[in-house]
Amino acid sequence: MKKKAYIYEKIKNFNKKISVPGDKSLSIRFVLLASQALGKSTAYNILKSEDVMCALSSIKKLGIKYKLSKNYCMIYGKGLNGFKYKNNTVINAGNSGTLSRLIIGLLINSKNTIILKGDQSLSKRDFSRIIKPMKMFGQNIVAKNNRLPIIFKGTKYSRPINYTELKGSAQVKSCILLAAMKTPGETIIKCIPSRNHTEKLFLHLKLPIKIKKEKKFEIISFKGKKNYKCFNYKIPGDISSSSFFIVLTLLTKKSKILIKDVNVNKSRTGIIDILKLMKAQIKLQNRRIYNGENIADIEVRSSEKLKPIDCPSEMNSRSIDEFLLIFLTCSVANGVSKFRNIEELRNKETDRLEFASKFLTKIGIKTKISKGTFKIYGNPNLRLNKTYEIKNFDKDHRACMLSFVAALAFGGKWIIHDIDSVKTSFPNFISLLKYLGAKIN
Ligand code: S3P
Repeated sequence: MKKKAYIYEKIKNFNKKISVPGDKSLSIRFVLLASQALGKSTAYNILKSEDVMCALSSIKKLGIKYKLSKNYCMIYGKGLNGFKYKNNTVINAGNSGTLSRLIIGLLINSKNTIILKGDQSLSKRDFSRIIKPMKMFGQNIVAKNNRLPIIFKGTKYSRPINYTELKGSAQVKSCILLAAMKTPGETIIKCIPSRNHTEKLFLHLKLPIKIKKEKKFEIISFKGKKNYKCFNYKIPGDISSSSFFIVLTLLTKKSKILIKDVNVNKSRTGIIDILKLMKAQIKLQNRRIYNGENIADIEVRSSEKLKPIDCPSEMNSRSIDEFLLIFLTCSVANGVSKFRNIEELRNKETDRLEFASKFLTKIGIKTKISKGTFKIYGNPNLRLNKTYEIKNFDKDHRACMLSFVAALAFGGKWIIHDIDSVKTSFPNFISLLKYLGAKIN
């Protein structure tokens, strides 16, 4: 298998229409929720990446059958009490923070012991954010230093909880909601808003969820436990995957792209709002709503004279997976950009704050980190002509894809290691870049 990519020239101007694969968050949620439905659920355009394959093999280990073909994914759910598995079943979540967190919630009432494992990067991540609420539900969890492997056994008598979630983490909120789904009584979560796909899917499935918006918080209440029928779902394109092409287009002269059928759920489009504030040329067209999710085609044109941004921290959760790309864009803005309260970036597949600061320094951009604040001193005349080798990023798919965008937009000679990491979320990333005209060896 090829592990390194060599890029020796910038991409030439392009004018193309593309589609990106299905949304990762929705694909994983579809797999988990379909495994609990009664009957055969079908998803179209499901993302076929390593994270989603791990979700499918996890439900298979728990006794749920599925069929994956070119055009659809069918899951034969057996209802809320349908999992069947032996004691000490091992589930491997691979690189997926989302799968590992959400499945713990789904197994709140597991009769047998489960051992949850992950790859090296996932094994470094902190699970205390999940362990705390799950213990309140009554789950028995053992985890050394709050890290994987986690050994847990559910409870017959899970009890509903009242929980305040202050990180703006959709994984925590969703883990709690999935546990609440299998727990009789009313669970209430007071939380900083974050991506809301689980809530929208619950509404689509007509499950008894209520959401009240307050000034800073959302109050979500949910009454378990009610079986629901199988469902069909067409998964829209992933805004996080689209973002690599949005930024590449902005930074490439005389170029234009149209990205078709992307999920532009407001809880995910922070990057578009931030880039627009920086005077990027981005338009959403053909807007429509599908099963509660907002879909649109995204048109982007090359944008020179980008302005720096003083980013309001309310945007953080809405752009959590796109900060590396936003930082890269800030490196050519005309002035100093500033981001606050972004410590959560340290808890991703790699420490993305550390990675960003080293990466930008490597390409000659001054940065400053102090506590949760990050400053980027942009240089609109940035020209690269040295050799840049990118490695040791814990195989973080987004750090890897960022390096391709920088290489193709700014020039210089690039050697990018561990390129297989893109398979976590975007297996055809490199072939789409080649379709735009990128020369990658
Ligand atoms: C995700 C939530 C986010 C995000 C991750 C996917 C999800 O994590 O970074 O890639 O699908 O719920 P947090 O909720 O921990 O911020």
